[in-house]
Amino acid sequence: MPDADPRALALRVLDHVGRGKFAAPTLDHALSRHDLTSQQAGLVTDLVYGTLRRERWLEAALTPLLRDPEGLPQELRWLLRAGAYEKLFTPRPAHALVNAWVSVAKRRFGMLSGLVNAVLRRVELPPVPEPVRLGLPDFLYSHWRDYFGDVSWAAALNEPAPLWLTVFPGGREALRSEGTNFEAGPLPDTVSVHGASLRELAAYRQGLVQPQNPSSLLAAMLLDAPAGARVLDLAGGAGIKAAWLAAKGARVTSYDLRSSRQRAGRRNLERLGLEVEFKTHDLRRPLADSAPYVLLDAPCLGTGTLRGHPELRRRLREDDLKESAALQALLLDNAARSVASAGVLVYAVCSLTEPEGEGLVAAFLDRHPDFSADTPAIPLPRLRSGAGVYVKPVDGLDGFYYARLRRG
Ligand SMILES: C[S@@+](CC[C@H](N)C(=O)[O-])C[C@H]1O[C@@H](n2cnc3c(N)ncnc32)[C@H](O)[C@@H]1O
Repeated sequence: MPDADPRALALRVLDHVGRGKFAAPTLDHALSRHDLTSQQAGLVTDLVYGTLRRERWLEAALTPLLRDPEGLPQELRWLLRAGAYEKLFTPRPAHALVNAWVSVAKRRFGMLSGLVNAVLRRVELPPVPEPVRLGLPDFLYSHWRDYFGDVSWAAALNEPAPLWLTVFPGGREALRSEGTNFEAGPLPDTVSVHGASLRELAAYRQGLVQPQNPSSLLAAMLLDAPAGARVLDLAGGAGIKAAWLAAKGARVTSYDLRSSRQRAGRRNLERLGLEVEFKTHDLRRPLADSAPYVLLDAPCLGTGTLRGHPELRRRLREDDLKESAALQALLLDNAARSVASAGVLVYAVCSLTEPEGEGLVAAFLDRHPDFSADTPAIPLPRLRSGAGVYVKPVDGLDGFYYARLRRG
């Protein structure tokens, strides 16, 4: 495997993200193809995520220093953003890091490295309006301010999260015996790991732990399905929630549109030594299956996951909100048909908007008088509750909305 300069590698990843790739898989791929120490891998990760999270503020800092920003190569603009991020948002010594970025620029852009040197030495953080400081698209900032009142919590979406793990029986002991530092998470079966990456963990290879944010796990917990119960996991993706339910003794069938995700899910379930039945189905059509416990983890805009998916900030458009809510309403209606009498339906999305959350569930309850909301108090910080509840995305938690709906 080739050695790589961490800054040059971060730049390559950022340039790919600028061309439309997702950050996490692009970064994983880059890290797996180079021989880096864990400290170097940490630097690449910080540069990629930090630059994407702070892009709006960095642009505001850089633009006044550039005569013709639009005329510069896109990759050079990423280099300036990443260099400015490292200088303005990390404690690393400015002189050394500017020199390091100028060396990368010399190799990639020759003469233009003089511009990089001049700009990175001068760049400073300007005062900016709150949406720019928080790194949010304007429409999302306005929606959050109008719907939740205060938006200061969104600053936490710019801070890194620990590695969250869901632990299966024997998982804690395995982590302890390999000397991994971990702390109990906010829910049973969750821990947070500091200073180790997943690829280093023997407990992961042994199938005793699963990376998963506690907010995501809580959606499965809210079903409250007893051992032996049949569960439908709708829009189940690679079956991460299904895995925990199966570990608790549920008989789970997981439906999703994308067979490639389900293939990855089968391999993961094999690693975990658990059984889930996967079936491919487009849930825009009703399902010829029913069960007393149904989980719909619907596709959504993902606004609660901006910390882990920082590139979403560049993609989100206000028009997507209506489209997302229309699909969710259709999927929820179809999910409701699959709930047996007196059964439970949990609706979850990793998004913090009214049309994908409370608005959607209120309209559902109007259309389905045979269902009522039965959402319990949750042990995670809350932004707002009504028929369902929104999780506040602080302390490394993803933002989620869940509603538990009971039939009859
Ligand atoms: C938020 S993800 C849920 C992932 C999964 N439940 C988990 O815990 O990792 C939404 C899922 O919805 C699936 N999806 C999107 N449109 C769908 C449709 N029309 N029918 C079925 N699944 C769909 C996507 O493939 C994706 O896996």
